[in-house]
Formats: sequence, C-alpha cells, structure tokens
Amino acid sequence: MKIAILPGNGIGPEIMQQAVKVLNELRSNGLRFEAQEASLRGERIEALGTTMPFATHALVKEADAILFGAIGASSTAVSEEPDLLAPVRPKSALLEMRRDLGLYANMRPVKYIPELGNASPLRADLAAQLDLVVVRELNADIYFGEPRGVTGAPGARTGINTMRYEEHEIERIAHAAFRLARQRRRKLCSIDKANVLETMALWREVVTRVGRDYPDVELSHLYVDAAAMMLLRDPGRFDVIVTGNLFGDILSDQTAMMMGSIGLSPSASLGEGGKGLYEPIHGSAPDIAGKDIANPLGMILSAAMMLRHSFGDETAAGRVENAVRKVLSGGLRTADVMQEGGRLVGTQAMGDAVAAEI
Ligand code: IPM
Ligand code: MG
Repeated sequence: MKIAILPGNGIGPEIMQQAVKVLNELRSNGLRFEAQEASLRGERIEALGTTMPFATHALVKEADAILFGAIGASSTAVSEEPDLLAPVRPKSALLEMRRDLGLYANMRPVKYIPELGNASPLRADLAAQLDLVVVRELNADIYFGEPRGVTGAPGARTGINTMRYEEHEIERIAHAAFRLARQRRRKLCSIDKANVLETMALWREVVTRVGRDYPDVELSHLYVDAAAMMLLRDPGRFDVIVTGNLFGDILSDQTAMMMGSIGLSPSASLGEGGKGLYEPIHGSAPDIAGKDIANPLGMILSAAMMLRHSFGDETAAGRVENAVRKVLSGGLRTADVMQEGGRLVGTQAMGDAVAAEI
C-alpha cells in the first residue's frame, strides 16, 4: 500500500507526526506500507487556480490512500486577516482533491467515549447514547455549484453561490449511506431543507426512491433545523445520518463536540474503489499551532479508518482504536479534554503513549 502523507499547515504537521509514529509502530509489528510526504502549496497556484503542486497532484493520483492533516491560513500570519475573497485559497487544494479523486462519501463517526468521563457538554445520560455516523456528500452542493463569485462595483456588489445536486450525485451518496446502515442498526435519517429549497426537495425524493432497494433499513427525514435540535434532545435516535455537503459540514462539528472535543473526530472520504482520503474533521487551528497542545487523536483515529477502509485491515485498525482507549482510560488528556483527575500531556506525549500502547 502506498500512502500519500499531506501534513498541511497550522497544527497539521504536529498531529501528522503522531499518526506516522503510530503507523511506524505497526510497521515494526508487520504492517507493510510505503509512505511519501508532500506539500500542498506550490507553483500551480497562479497557473491553475489551486495551491496543490504538480508533484503532489501526481502523488495523490497514484496513492492507495491519502492521510491529510489540516490546511488553512498560514500559521505564521495569525494576526493577518486571511483574504477570504482571494480566487485561490489554501483550502482549494483540499476541495480539489476531494472532487478530482471522486471521493464523494465522507464518513464522520462519533461515539460516546466512556474513558473520557464527562468531557461531553451534554448531560451524561444523553452523551452515553451517542453512537452515529454522519455521511456527508462531498463532491457537490453549494461548495462546487456554479455560478459563484462576487460581482459588481464596490459598495454595490452581489455575492452568489449555487446549491446544486444532480440526481446521480444524490443516488450514489444515498446508496453509500444505506449500505452503511445495513452494517449498523439499520436506521437512516436523511437531513435536508426540502420545505424551502427545490434542490433539497429533489434530494428527499431521490433518497426515498433509493430506499425502496433497502426495505430492511428504516428511513426517516428531518429538516436541518429540526435535526440540529433533535441531535441534542435525543441523540440516541440517530444511527446513520445522510446529508449534503454544507449541512454535513455544520452538523458534523456539532456531533464531534457532543463527544467532548472536535479534536477527537476522524473522517474517511471514499469513492467507488478502495482509495480514500483520511483526515480529522477539525481545521488548522493556527492559534495553537507549534505549541504542542493540539489533540492528535482525531488524526490518529483517521489513520485507523485508513487501515480499515483502504488496507482492509480490521485487526490493525482495531489495535489503534484500542490503544487510544487504553491511553485515555489511563488518564492521559490533552488540554481540550482535560478534567480533574486527568494527567495533562502535550501532542507529542499523547502520540508516544498511543504508539507505546501498540
Ligand atoms: C471540513 C472542513 C472543510 C470543509 C474546510 C477546511 C474546507 O471544515 O472538512 O469539515 O468545509 O469541508
Ligand atoms: Mg468543517
């Protein structure tokens, strides 16, 4: 297996280092892989409207799996406001990669972690019910729809983005979500805004139609506003959630925080083959970059998802996940989930502890 390692910037490199540590530990226990690191910023900026260098582009095309850290505004320019309207932003490389590689199904699992005690901001009885996967569509929606942009003279400009879904895009993500529901508790909740948006009315219709192929899966629908509320009121009613790119982005930050910290949340972005892109769902957090305080567990657990989905190695994935649980039950905590009685450790020490446990 060939892994492309893309640390990115901000806290990306320091959390990636911990995931690599864990993979190397597995390697000395017999796991076979080849890893190559590459940068996400380079000469293609001007020419092609992206920050992804040619070499990285070639590497991610041929790799079997991509491990990605984080990307955002440069960590050395925290005080400067990022130019949010620049035609090429650092995030373009990530969005380009997701779409170019056809990685349309983004899986964001969250589950109550008993070893973390009361880290969740939810009431304990509600937190304990948490066990769901957000299946976020990743190749369409308002993220990619045209027309887009800002036009007009200063003071009288118009900003436009387009929420757009084609039937086949809804069909394939619905199938991915139904298949996943079959491996779990056979409950799928589709989240949309069909009461206001035609795109979302089409979404609901297509998901319902696809559902006829899965009579053993219980399908329900919620509007996104009601879903945001219901997730807090009754998290236990959710098993698999399927939703569009934008709603999935928003709701998955919420569901991650319901575990106790966004730093704990891994993700897998999958297409038709075994190839995948694996990244924690948090951003580059430039404010805490380089301070050895970021939580590396979302990154490490993303590597576990890679072992499961791209390597097909359930054993190795399980070993990583168990090691994380053991380290947490031993009381080690990064600052984001620190509580009374815990032992505060930095990014590196947390990575060392997980590797040692393996
Ligand atoms: C995520 C992130 C990205 C997104 C950003 C970094 C472009 O928030 O993966 O959830 O919006 O998809
Ligand atoms: Mg997000």
